[in-house]
Order: sequence, then C-alpha cells, then structure tokens
Amino acid sequence: RILPVILSGGSGSRLWPVSRRARPKQFLPLTGERTMLRETLDRLAPLGLEMLILCAEQARFQVAEHVQEAGHRARIVLEPLARNTALPCAVAALIAERQAPGTILLIAPADHYIPDAAAFRAAAAHAAALAARGHIVTFGVTPDGPETGYGYIRRGEALCERGARVAAFREKPDLETARGYLASGDHFWNAGIFAAPAALLLDELRAHAPQVLDAARGALDGAGRDLDFLRLAADPLVACPDLSIDYAVMERTRRAAMVPAEFTWSDLGSWAAMWEIAREGADGNATRGNVALLDTKRSYVHSDGPLVAVTGVRDLVVVATADAVLVADRAAPGAAGEVVRHLKAAG
Ligand code: GDD
Ligand code: MG
Repeated sequence: RILPVILSGGSGSRLWPVSRRARPKQFLPLTGERTMLRETLDRLAPLGLEMLILCAEQARFQVAEHVQEAGHRARIVLEPLARNTALPCAVAALIAERQAPGTILLIAPADHYIPDAAAFRAAAAHAAALAARGHIVTFGVTPDGPETGYGYIRRGEALCERGARVAAFREKPDLETARGYLASGDHFWNAGIFAAPAALLLDELRAHAPQVLDAARGALDGAGRDLDFLRLAADPLVACPDLSIDYAVMERTRRAAMVPAEFTWSDLGSWAAMWEIAREGADGNATRGNVALLDTKRSYVHSDGPLVAVTGVRDLVVVATADAVLVADRAAPGAAGEVVRHLKAAG
C-alpha cells in the first residue's frame, strides 16, 4: 500500500510580493490556471490512492476547498504550530503505520513545478518499489549551478537499474562547498520528494531525532476531530525542535537511496526560477499578466494589477501586485526574500 503525503505548510517569502503570509506559494497559480497545490493533487490523483495532506491550521479551509474542487480523496491534518518538515513526516508515518502496517509513504511538497505528471508517476512507482526493499528513496536532480538552497546527494553503489545508494547527503551547503559538489560530477540535488516505508522512517526518526518522534506521537494521541479535519494537539509541539526531514534524517541515515528525477522539475524558489521555466522567444523574456515589453531582454515581468511597461532593460525582474512592486536584478535570486526580511526588520 502506498500513501501519498502532501506537505503544504510552507510560508515562503521568496516570491514576494505575489506570495504573502496568508497566501504562500502552494495557493498561487504560478505557472498556469491552477494553484501549485491543485497541480500536486491532480498529479497524484491518477494513482487512485487516498492522500494525506498536512498543513497549517489557518490554511485549513483553503486546503479543504482545493480537495473538494479537485474531487480527490484526501484526509487533512492540521498543525497548530509550524515545526518544519520532520514533524509532519513523523505524523504521517505514525498514521500510516497505525492504520496499515507496511505502508510506503510517498512524500511530496505541495509547491513544486513538475509539468510531466505521467513521468513523475512512473518515477514515483520506481522509487516506491525501491523503498519497499528497505530504503528512504530521494529523487536526484542533475544540478546546473552551485545552488545553496538545496540538499546535495552523492551517488553511491548501484542498487538496481536506475537506483543507487546515497553515499552522503548534505543539506543546504555553503557556496564554496556547493561549488565543490558541482565540480565533482557525482552529486545531485535532492528534489525534496521521498518514498519510504513508514516503519523505516519511524525507526530512523527514533534513532536520529527522537524529540520529533515524541512530539509527533503526543500531538497525534492528543489530536481532535474538527469537521473533517484532524487537528494535532498543540502542547506536545511546543517542545518539538524546528527541523526539516533533511537535517533530521537524510543527513544521518544510512538507509538512503536515490533514483534520478527523470522529469522536468523546479521548486520555483525564486523569480529567477520562474523566469527559467517560462522564458521564450529570441529575447528570452518571460511575462505574466498585464505587461508590455519594449527592447527588453532576458527579463521576468509579471503584473497582477496595473499595466506594467518595461523598456530598455536587461536581466531584470519586475513583479507588480495591487499594493507592492518588486524590481530586482535577475542574477540575485535571493532578492525577494531579502526585501521581506528588510521590511520586517524595519517594522
Ligand atoms: N505541513 C508542513 N508543515 N509542511 C511544511 C512545513 C511545515 O511546518 N514547512 C515546510 N513545509 C512544506 C513546504 O510547503 C514545501 O512544500 C515542503 O514542505 C518543503 O519545505 P521547504 O521549506 O520548501 O524546503 P526547502 O525548499 O528549503 O528544502 C527542501 O526542498 C529542496 C528542493 O526544493 C529540502 O528537501 C532540500 O533538500 C531540497 O533540495
Ligand atoms: Mg522548497
């Protein structure tokens, strides 16, 4: 049995001003008509399996609406406090193992761009089969730059035709280290999608992040029903460390394996990434919404509000909403996040 698990609790600032606290990336239609969460649900739906979605308590009606509109079967678990991804992964593993021992989890972020859904499902089936042999399987993306926002996987001994052991996993290295990984030629980016037996994930959490597992168990034992939602108890989460599954388990486990991500993938982690997937034509611009471009090259221009006209510029990001405008160098992918931090600090 496979249980798709969707992590939908992020609150990104990297796509400001379009993404806001109340409307993080997964609730935005960034690449087409449908929101990223809806794309994720629809990508998994043909597997014909009931899904589990974990999200922030405040987002519950947004998520429920998505599930209803998509018409897929999904249970929704609410986190009264955000504790990063190790906690929801632990909760999902406990739910699965209590309900149907032997379940393989397929853990997927709610906000990734994966246009070829069929190729994704094929890769997921392959990963699940490898997971069933006792591995925590990640999807390795061939890197094209020394990105510091990703986890890096060093490929080890082959386990099957495509799959291999993970010889080492390093989450979010510094730039110098990332450059070294890139030059080595045997490193991949972690796509942030995992297939693992729930019981194995629990074992590894017990070994490497027992506080997270304890918090998950407490939060689940104290959980209450609210309409169709399952709301985790808040108290046990207070003591839970803020840890991603990458730091908590992937950097430490010896049971990690990888399959190559044989599908187009982007986590849309910056406006530069949005430009990457949407640029077209000889000028290499990408546009969205109410915009007009003249003598502009290699730029991303997006407006959800006023008409934005851009002329005589190169390699620029311009993003306008009804109440805020970002103008940034396209070569500085961290720009939006820095602006948000600056604005917060300035009150
Ligand atoms: N339910 C829940 N609760 N979901 C969460 C929480 C939380 O507290 N925090 C984050 N998420 C969700 C996000 O919405 C996203 O879908 C996913 O978990 C991953 O979290 P990110 O915060 O986006 O992680 P990241 O992008 O910094 O790093 C991860 O993804 C990279 C690839 O995009 C890591 O797995 C990296 O190793 C990986 O390279
Ligand atoms: Mg991410």
